[in-house]
Amino acid sequence: MRTPIARRLGCDVPIFAFSHCRDVVVEVTKAGGFGVLGASTFPPEHLEQELRWIDDHVGGRPYGVDIIIPTTYDREAETQEAPEKLIPAQHRDFMQGILAKEGVPELPPDERERVHKEIVTGRGAMTPDGARRLLDVTLTHPLVTLVVSALGAPPPDVVERLKARTVMIGALCGKAAHALRQKAAGVELIIAQGTEAGGHTGDIATLVLVPQVVEACPDIPVLAAGGISRGSQIAAALALGAEGVWTGTIWLGTRESELTPFEKDAVFAARAEDAVRRKARTGKTVRMIRSKLSEAWEQPGAPPYLPTPLQGILYNEMHARVVRAQRRDLYSFPVGQSVTSVNEETSVREVMLRLQTEYLVAMERMMTIAEAE
Ligand SMILES: Cc1cc2nc3c(=O)[nH]c(=O)nc-3n(C[C@H](O)[C@H](O)[C@H](O)COP(=O)(O)O)c2cc1C
Repeated sequence: MRTPIARRLGCDVPIFAFSHCRDVVVEVTKAGGFGVLGASTFPPEHLEQELRWIDDHVGGRPYGVDIIIPTTYDREAETQEAPEKLIPAQHRDFMQGILAKEGVPELPPDERERVHKEIVTGRGAMTPDGARRLLDVTLTHPLVTLVVSALGAPPPDVVERLKARTVMIGALCGKAAHALRQKAAGVELIIAQGTEAGGHTGDIATLVLVPQVVEACPDIPVLAAGGISRGSQIAAALALGAEGVWTGTIWLGTRESELTPFEKDAVFAARAEDAVRRKARTGKTVRMIRSKLSEAWEQPGAPPYLPTPLQGILYNEMHARVVRAQRRDLYSFPVGQSVTSVNEETSVREVMLRLQTEYLVAMERMMTIAEAE
């Protein structure tokens, strides 16, 4: 499984793990995979702490950072000191009304202030300038050898800065046309992410998308993403022309994951059909667990979704209340369809070992089937 991209990035196996949790990033990387920290929810000073911790624990191995650089977003919110002021009262009242009706308490004042600050400076950073601030922090950490951008082709100044530091630049795409645009922008690694994936995701399935992207960009390494939770799917991804896999949902149920026990239970209970694509969380389609809160926005009479980053600022404050109140019926968190195979707590090491064992079994089975008379 040590494909060219694994050799180039210095990992043993091309299993890439996206996570917002530093422990997952470290454990995957130490187990021979390639951990990538999702930076977009952190304010810059918090990201600095996370990266310093990873540097101290990763045993000198290289790892990656993922930033969101949306092509469409609210430009006024990008330049505002207090972007939350741009959220219309109608939208606030709508969300408040749902939680009040459901009897979900407000956060205690000190926690409210902390959550609010973190969300506004974190989610508020989901704009190109916010991403640039995260990049400033990232580039002071030499073990970061891959930066991945999501939700569009990275702008020229970002590509230039990464190339000047010989940091590889990757991008997520949901269509072959996006991959071509990213290639033209200077991207060196394409992650072809199918609709099955957790998080922001398009319409095309992994099995259809990956070979299209491989054909469109034959001179760039491609990783397959979306729905991958078994070693047989890694074998399938390589068969489609990918040089490795990029995974997210599978790590949410690990001991190392940042989710609380209440949240992990919600993930364990969710089936593939519960992972729906909705705009409630960020204003763009995110695959996440269906709940009363995600569905309320789809009902007639609901206000229109706000643009990024405003919808996220509004939604996440309410989400913090839902988590504190431990209300499963209102809980929506990004997960992909492979959530169906995340059913109990394991460790990152166990998952890494299982994926590689299953990969070998699948390869052997393919040889046997191919040889059978
Ligand atoms: C909880 C969660 C949060 C995510 N947040 C981001 C993000 O901030 N940036 C990003 O590029 N991708 C994000 N993703 C998508 C992952 O990078 C990855 O493409 C996806 O999880 C792969 O599909 P899978 O979930 O089926 O493994 C997220 C995925 C999950 C499950």
